Amino acid sequence: MLPTIKWEGELIKILDQRKLPSKKEWYTCRGYRDVINAIEKMVIRGAPAIGVAAAMGLALGASSIRTRSFPAFSTRFTLLAEKMRLARPTAVNLQWAVERMLRLVDRSAGRSVEEIKQALRNESEVILAQDIDINKNIGRHGLTVVPENSTILTHCNAGSLATAGYGTALGVIRAAHAARKNIRVFADETRPWLQGLRLTTFELMEDGIPVTVIADNAAGSLMRQGEIDLVITGADRIAANGDVANKIGTYQVALMARIHRIPFYVAAPLSTIDPATPDGEAIPVENRPPEEITRIGRAALAPPGVNALNPAFDITPAKYVTAIITEAGIILPPFKKNIKDTMRSRPRFSS
Ligand code: MRU
Repeated sequence: MLPTIKWEGELIKILDQRKLPSKKEWYTCRGYRDVINAIEKMVIRGAPAIGVAAAMGLALGASSIRTRSFPAFSTRFTLLAEKMRLARPTAVNLQWAVERMLRLVDRSAGRSVEEIKQALRNESEVILAQDIDINKNIGRHGLTVVPENSTILTHCNAGSLATAGYGTALGVIRAAHAARKNIRVFADETRPWLQGLRLTTFELMEDGIPVTVIADNAAGSLMRQGEIDLVITGADRIAANGDVANKIGTYQVALMARIHRIPFYVAAPLSTIDPATPDGEAIPVENRPPEEITRIGRAALAPPGVNALNPAFDITPAKYVTAIITEAGIILPPFKKNIKDTMRSRPRFSS
């Protein structure tokens, strides 16, 4: 599997996901502004991948701060961090990574600025490597909820491309495939960016995992016909009460799953859980440009001047979620209590 993002000397290279699967092109970031642009413009997307990119972007930004004074460095770094924070609002992993980098600087008074820059670079590499380990653990735990010979529906792309590698929802699917559970996958195409059609199918086909893409509006009918045994999606933010923000369309998939008595699982690292957000109402949902709906590539499909609304995410209330699969284990309802307990005993690297 291709890496999503990597250091190349003093540059950051990001696999341009807007071009996949037809072209494998690397987008080069020479400064932190390029990284912000890459996140805003969907060159890189998916909550954990955005977090990794933000950490790397801040390390890159730090390297260009010209001062030897710790207070001056810290002030300028904080400004960069605040700009990075705004790149996309919903995925809390971005905030989590920014705060982790800010904490490192806060703890570093007394070290030279050069040492701090190196420490930030090292921390970004640790975050990158840890994300893959975390996903493998999500896969290991999630494997237990996947029956033999089952068909899984997934929405959007919560795969290797949405993370540093292996994936969350697709991590569970990869682990089930590796355990020879004889699974099949239906991938919602996921309008308007078509992450399911372009990215999920691409990843699963590369790994030889049987996948069939469907139009988003086909999922309910397949459920009614008994074609789907379980749903697994990723998440962009999970509130303290277990409400889940994920790609637009997830809510209706969860509702249909409930009506058809199909389990609906959310696979996500603990860094996607935001204890400071009490419930889904408090999660900021990104609205993206209307042209993403009315055009496909350069082709305008709608009458000129049509109104279009493009919320990028929706909220699935906790009551429709069967369980949350994390690197620390499977969190069952009641989510408010069980999320709190899990966060209290979380592994050191998820802090
Ligand atoms: O707009 P995107 O492509 O960044 O949205 C991605 C999703 O909604 C994913 O399901 C989510 O980030 C989980 S990725 C492991």
